[in-house]
Amino acid sequence: MISKLSKSNIKEAIYQALGECRLKTMVLFEGMDETTFRSQPHPDFSPVGWHLGHIAYTESLWLLEHSANLPCLFPQYRKLFAADGLPKSERVQLPNLEETYDYLNIVRGKVLECLEIADIEQQERLWRFLIQHESQHFEIISFVLELINIQKSKVNNQEWQFLDYSITPSLPLAIAPQKTLHNFEEMIQIPAGEFEQGNDSIDALDNERFASKVYLDTYYIDRYPVTCGQYHSFIEAGGYQDPRWWSKVGWQWLQTEQVTQPLYWSSNRVWDDHPVYGVSWYEAEAYSRFVGKRLPTEAEWEKAASWDVKANRRRTFPWGDAAPTAQSQNCNCDRLIGKTTPVNAYPAGQSAYGLYDTLGNVWEWTASWFSGYKGFQSYPYIGYSQVYFDQKHRVLKGGSWATRPWALRSSFRNWYHPSVRQIFAGFRCASSTIVEC
Ligand code: AVJ
Ligand code: FE
Repeated sequence: MISKLSKSNIKEAIYQALGECRLKTMVLFEGMDETTFRSQPHPDFSPVGWHLGHIAYTESLWLLEHSANLPCLFPQYRKLFAADGLPKSERVQLPNLEETYDYLNIVRGKVLECLEIADIEQQERLWRFLIQHESQHFEIISFVLELINIQKSKVNNQEWQFLDYSITPSLPLAIAPQKTLHNFEEMIQIPAGEFEQGNDSIDALDNERFASKVYLDTYYIDRYPVTCGQYHSFIEAGGYQDPRWWSKVGWQWLQTEQVTQPLYWSSNRVWDDHPVYGVSWYEAEAYSRFVGKRLPTEAEWEKAASWDVKANRRRTFPWGDAAPTAQSQNCNCDRLIGKTTPVNAYPAGQSAYGLYDTLGNVWEWTASWFSGYKGFQSYPYIGYSQVYFDQKHRVLKGGSWATRPWALRSSFRNWYHPSVRQIFAGFRCASSTIVEC
């Protein structure tokens, strides 16, 4: 009896999440024209509409074909929308908007039929994976749309604007009351000791498993992400022209790219208390050296964000174990605000050690290469994480203003090549010793 009840609760929760997740994915496409749907502003990222077809294909592959043993519903889309079908540059021959919506809806209809009869206790992990998969493509669509905006403003000879796509524009923003008392240079000492890294829960992705105890020596980490105001001083001081701050590889990257400011950058100083974002790992590294600091390792970031030393346990979120909601005012995520917020806007989101803004607002680059934890096992396919354990991808933590709640937790690991600047990524700095500021 009890087991039957909990089974239907799991199904109910998954049904709800599938619906909520899809609803907001579709909001991104509201009023979109075919040209935008087909556009591919950068060859490293698939066209806007491709992601929609790929979401449907991935759901169909794992839930209909693999789990329910059904035949492929739309075999003509297999090559186009499979993750390993075509190189990104050749993903341009898309069905039109309406055909793609039909594809999504027909697959989803079948998927919900399968949910009714599924052995959910056995398949729960897979369903949760797929909700997170769609969530991640939601964020990719978000920055691809942002890249289109950058290109449009270039054509019109205008500076790119921090655009406002807020889905709930009336939502109040919790600005810290004593704004002037915040010192954005401040660092927090994290005393030596063990903490628990990783996550074994049912929604943990393959790369978060298994949780394990990790010892770290004492270190210092910024209370806030690096702000636009702070980064502005680096630009003003000629940081982009001075090889002293750059690693050899970073300087080479800079010579090729010839950039002089972050990708998402405004010369309007009203943004000074917002986190800088649209920087590559190399820029984050150079800034850190400029201020006499370094990037935190992934473990240092995760301990400072999630370890509750008094309770001797890991928290799922910096502030505790309750997921953020539109009302909870503990982080800027899920496009609820639609842009970045001041780094001190969410006092209720502080970690046990007192860090602000570890989840939401902007992703944060870490010093660590992406690699598997002890006992790693690929799930659901090696192309999800394992092929990126190649010493070529750096870990990012924390999620951005566009990260959906299903992909937002302190143990969540993102990864990109260090030269990527299109993602919504900034950083905070760390140090092994006290830094005078
Ligand atoms: C974790 C964001 C790097 O974009 O390749 C989506 C997420 N994996 N579909 C990516 C992903 C498969 C992944 N990132
Ligand atoms: Fe995918």
